[in-house]
Amino acid sequence: MGLSNKELPKLGFLYMDYVLRFFDYSNFKGWPNKIETVTYHWGNDKDRFIKEVKKKKIDVLIGNVPATAYETFREIARALPNVRFIPSLDTQFSNKSKENVTRFAWKYDLPIPKTYVYYNRPNADKFLKKTQYPKIVKKSYGPSNYGGYFVHKVDSYKEAKALFDEKKYHPMYFQDFVPMEADIRVMLIGHKPVCAFWRRAPEGEWLTNTSQGGSMDYMDVPKSVLDLAVRVSKSANAEYWACDVAYGKDGKVRILECATAFAAFPYIRDWIGQYIMWSLSKGRFRKPHMPMFNWEELGKINPDLLRTMRHITFGAFNPSYDGAFFGKKKKHYGEGEVFLHELDKQYKVYDVKPRTFEEWPSEKWNYQDKFSLKNLKSMKVPALKKNEAPVVSEDESIPAVKISNEDLETLLTSVNGLGKKKLKKITNRFSHQAIVNILENEPKILKDIKGIKSDILDAIMVVWNNFKKN
Ligand SMILES: Nc1ncnc2c1ncn2[C@@H]1O[C@H](COP(=O)(O)OP(=O)(O)O)[C@@H](O)[C@H]1O
Ligand SMILES: [Mg+2]
Repeated sequence: MGLSNKELPKLGFLYMDYVLRFFDYSNFKGWPNKIETVTYHWGNDKDRFIKEVKKKKIDVLIGNVPATAYETFREIARALPNVRFIPSLDTQFSNKSKENVTRFAWKYDLPIPKTYVYYNRPNADKFLKKTQYPKIVKKSYGPSNYGGYFVHKVDSYKEAKALFDEKKYHPMYFQDFVPMEADIRVMLIGHKPVCAFWRRAPEGEWLTNTSQGGSMDYMDVPKSVLDLAVRVSKSANAEYWACDVAYGKDGKVRILECATAFAAFPYIRDWIGQYIMWSLSKGRFRKPHMPMFNWEELGKINPDLLRTMRHITFGAFNPSYDGAFFGKKKKHYGEGEVFLHELDKQYKVYDVKPRTFEEWPSEKWNYQDKFSLKNLKSMKVPALKKNEAPVVSEDESIPAVKISNEDLETLLTSVNGLGKKKLKKITNRFSHQAIVNILENEPKILKDIKGIKSDILDAIMVVWNNFKKN
């Protein structure tokens, strides 16, 4: 079963000078062929990098692209249409900036704090005069994540104005303040949660980042948080993924951050390597078994020791083997109690397949370079031309097309070849509003769903357009 050495794709690691390496050979233990490396040297290195990838005949290029190289790598990926990037540049869209995280969340109707993005500073100023406080102001784009260093709470227009005068963040990016219990980091591989922990703010503080002295623990991460993280990972079509979820005092969950670049113990990177090997070899290499809530147990290990532990393997649940830990342990989860191994069926490891089109082309989505502030001396930057500089708030994502849930489901299942089963697959993955957004903006995304091919998609678009006409 699976591919022979000769049939396996040729792998390469994508490295960058001055950037910590997420993967190396040891994460891909057992891969029988040579793994190439290609290093990006910054500056004017695009063409040389492309040539090297071609010369080495690499089929799959594995690694994260940092924010500051993101746009260059979109160009590189375009010049290498036959190379699969893992994760794809579309999946890494959220790595670039907070604005991109927000746009991604709007498209897929994923819950986030209400967010405002202004490239037009005079308009933002008008808005800040009349809005309610507190607001959280953030720097959207930066060379890396500074754990709250570029995140500020403002309690009045005066404070907001003073902050933007001083910091000159561009775009002007801010959110409603959400009172929260804690935030929760969830890491996923093939859309399955493999590690999760709480981060709580120190007494009387609002920043939940542990880099600011808060605490963390691995126990009893709620179902609503894990379910949201899975939805986010599926929407991004991510082979591996991390998501910071705010757990509000109102009990609601909202995304704060998500990305493919994150700090992870080596054993997690080993699991990602094994997962990729499994996926690329058509099953020749074993899919890693990463039991749900393993992190509650591994989290008890001294972190210094855990950092040195490699290639952690778990056996799958076997009913005939008496005393299997993960088989006997029951856990409070969601509404009731479950056996841990039952959760492994609920949270599957998916074999993520690449999309066949560009979802976030820079011509459209790179607002930052289109509307850069070249000569920023004060807040009194001349207003950009009307219908240029985007002013966007969450309202943008309210669909122009109104349709009830029932009507949408009837409409979809009226398509030949789209029955209850496929409908379930669609609604498991996307919310009602996300489906509407996708039908309006990027119907091709539905082809990600198993069993939905071009003919079915064409038929969906026919009934959708008919519906809109009436
Ligand atoms: N809208 C918000 N309301 C309340 N607290 C927030 C909000 N956004 C962020 N925070 C707090 O600020 C921290 C840092 O924000 P985050 O968006 O994660 O930026 P960073 O890139 O600096 O980590 C979060 O962990 C959270 O504690
Ligand atoms: Mg953060």
